[in-house]
Order: sequence, then C-alpha cells, then structure tokens
Amino acid sequence: MEQTYIMIKPDGVQRGLVGEIIGRFEKRGYKLVALKLVQPSVEHLEKHYEDLSSKGFFKGLIKYMASGPVVAMVWEGKDAVKTGRAILGATNPLASAPGTIRGDFAIDVGRNVCHGSDAVESAQKEIALWFPEGITQHTLASEAWVY
Ligand code: RTP
Repeated sequence: MEQTYIMIKPDGVQRGLVGEIIGRFEKRGYKLVALKLVQPSVEHLEKHYEDLSSKGFFKGLIKYMASGPVVAMVWEGKDAVKTGRAILGATNPLASAPGTIRGDFAIDVGRNVCHGSDAVESAQKEIALWFPEGITQHTLASEAWVY
C-alpha cells in the first residue's frame, strides 16, 4: 500500500484545524501509520524544502514553517500520494476547490495550512526525514470495509 507524508503547518495547528484535517483523511478511508507534534528546526526545514532553496519565497517559507509546532503524519492507502494532494487542494488556496482543506480553510499561498508529498519518491524521502525512528505498521478493522 502506498504511503504519503502529510504535515499540518504552524497556521493549521494555531487555528485549531488538527482534528478537522485528520478527520478528513480518516473518513476518506486512509490509515494513519505515524503521527507526532514537533517544533521543527530551521536546519530540518531547509532539508525538507531543499528543492525550493533557489526560490524568492524560500526564506519566508522557512520562517513561517519554524514559527510553531507542526503535526507530522504518514497516511497509507491506495494512491495515497495523489489522493492526499487532492484532499489538500491546490497549493494556492485561491485556486483550491471548495471541499478541499485549502479550499475550505485558507486564502493565502504563504499560509496554506498543510503539506502533502508530491510523488511516491518524495514521500519516501520525507517519511525518512520526519520519522527516522520508523513508523507503526498495523491492521485496522475498517480496512476490510474500505477495500
Ligand atoms: P507543499 O510542499 O507545502 O505541499 O506545497 P506544494 O508542493 O503544493 O508547493 P511548492 O511549490 O512545493 O511550495 C511549497 C510551499 O511554499 C509556499 N509557497 N509560497 N509565496 C509564494 O509564492 C509561495 N509559493 C509557494 C507554500 O506554503 C507552499 O505550500
């Protein structure tokens, strides 16, 4: 089964959206296999966003992401990477469809509430970066009903 790294950014935590965001993935049928609240360091965030280091918004992005705790999660299920991003909505909330997390809870691209891996390969890299201790494999009773 595919796994994706989903993160609730500092604005999502401060705005009390943790339960709402987790609920959307749970209700869709995805399985939570790792979860923690963490205050990320600047160095850790620079690693996470290393592909964006040449972008003009990079410095502001790191400052925003380091401004408070984030919720790091791994969700598992069929097509988790692509569907995970569909659940989050477009990067720019103004272009996000209503019904998506960003389309329902955000306006500004610089405060877009959540992150989701953009490919299976980056998901594996991000999971290793945020969960070096490993993740929990388990069976949910609901799996037999979701699939
Ligand atoms: P994410 O990694 O957070 O899921 O976002 P993404 O793949 O959809 O978008 P990406 O282009 O990788 O950008 C990463 C994050 O940088 C911030 N951003 N700010 N000010 C701007 O123009 C701008 N563009 C991007 C957003 O927080 C975006 O999620």
